[in-house]
Amino acid sequence: MNILGIETSCDETAAAVVSDGTSILASVVSSQVEIHHRYGGVVPELASRKHIEAIVPVVEEAIHTAGLPLTQIDAIAVTRGPGLVGALLVGFSFAKSLAYALGIPWVGVNHLAGHINSVFLESDPPAFPFVALLASGGHTSIYHVTDHITLELMGQTRDDAAGEAFDKVAKILDLGYPGGGVIDRLSNQGDPSRIRFPRSYLDKSGFDFSFSGIKTAVNRYAMNYQGDDFKESIPDIAAGFQEAVMEVLTYKAIHAAVEKGCDRLALVGGVAANSRLREKLKADAGHKGIKVHIPSIPLCGDNAAMIAAAGYHYLKAGIVAGLQDDVFSRSK
Ligand code: KG4
Ligand code: ZN
Repeated sequence: MNILGIETSCDETAAAVVSDGTSILASVVSSQVEIHHRYGGVVPELASRKHIEAIVPVVEEAIHTAGLPLTQIDAIAVTRGPGLVGALLVGFSFAKSLAYALGIPWVGVNHLAGHINSVFLESDPPAFPFVALLASGGHTSIYHVTDHITLELMGQTRDDAAGEAFDKVAKILDLGYPGGGVIDRLSNQGDPSRIRFPRSYLDKSGFDFSFSGIKTAVNRYAMNYQGDDFKESIPDIAAGFQEAVMEVLTYKAIHAAVEKGCDRLALVGGVAANSRLREKLKADAGHKGIKVHIPSIPLCGDNAAMIAAAGYHYLKAGIVAGLQDDVFSRSK
């Protein structure tokens, strides 16, 4: 079954063609980062307009790369939410119209289920049930995953998402937007033990997160910095910050897997691209006999292949969308 996936929940316009939920025939991601960069974050109205400009060429490119005529597309899977409503509506309305015109089924996919399904696009996917840590710019949550579309929420951030903390700290350090990649790179040149930022575990036996305190701690550190070598200290600040965030994420994810008796752990979402997190989670989980599954870097950030992969399982479960269906901005 060839599924055309479409994703427009935030600042990436993406389309992909995936066969049987596992094999990527094409995956095109057009990022708006350049546009939002100068504002230090995503501007929703601009995001919607850019999606409108990009949606047709991005879908055309995906179809062209897959080498399939539209008549060989069996169904369309599109992100329904959570995300920016105006942005979601572009992809959702497009998918609705195209499916109607082609006379094929279509389905609205939960963006978070999409991220979880990204690990099934890699070889050696995890067996069910497993625990998943989803860390991105908009979400930081831990799920117990019992099948492709059933996510049992174990805990989530009470304030900032992990990626959001990276973006805000990058802003404080004047490193531009988005901040994850640059902090990751700078940290490799810094000493993670020179500055110890607070680790917020909240309740150590629970699975909720809080990342607003560490952002404030970095801000306070930067404001009170004495001496004219601040620029030279940035790699150490970045590394100290990154280490604190990754320690908490790793601890809670492993603790959740142990609690559920799962020896499989998936790490997904934009922050899953972080080199330190990939290394630390694998090493620490390995000591407990837990195998970690992380998608390749292009499948960590927002993409449409993961939406098509999840959509395949919605359709297999008999879930299809209708013309009356609408997007949603937040998970209920
Ligand atoms: O999944 P994603 O593309 O979009 C959302 O659904 O939010 O995640 C984007 C987030 C941004 O906050 C970005 O700074 C963060 O992922 N990110 C990283 C890295 N690469 C991207 N955070 C830490 N380290 C990275 N290497
Ligand atoms: Zn995402």
